[in-house]
Amino acid sequence: MTGEEARRLARAALRARDNAYAPYSRWTVGAALLAKDGSLTVGCNIENAAYGPTNCAERTALFSAVAQGKRRFLAVAIAGGREGEQPRDFCPPCGVCRQALAEFCGPELEILLVRSAEEAELHTLGELLPLAFTPASLAQGEEEAL
Ligand code: THU
Repeated sequence: MTGEEARRLARAALRARDNAYAPYSRWTVGAALLAKDGSLTVGCNIENAAYGPTNCAERTALFSAVAQGKRRFLAVAIAGGREGEQPRDFCPPCGVCRQALAEFCGPELEILLVRSAEEAELHTLGELLPLAFTPASLAQGEEEAL
């Protein structure tokens, strides 16, 4: 991802955070996903009174992008913190979101943790989810079964 793409993605994640629905945790998260076609899809966390159905910002963005026909991604930016405040620190993606991303993205997916428009930290999915179980893992099982 270029520096310009990173800045665009960071701004979009911070903006998407404004739409978070987090009345239970008061922890709001925004995510922005950059597809290989250059398009951007945003998401926010959406909580639920039953707690379990809560969806994280990253999965909201991913599922929305897939629903729009996108399946190839370059990078995702994430910004999270206490509701009504600027993020105090970097908000790493939860394990479920790492796994959801691994369904569509390889270890080279760039994960930009955003604290402000100027402060971000770059990671990769391979770094945050080593030895991932992916569609390739299942395909290997099929070969052995033949
Ligand atoms: N959350 C996210 O949206 N993304 C993450 O990767 C971490 C957690 C949300 C879920 C819940 O609504 C709130 O943050 C507190 O866990």
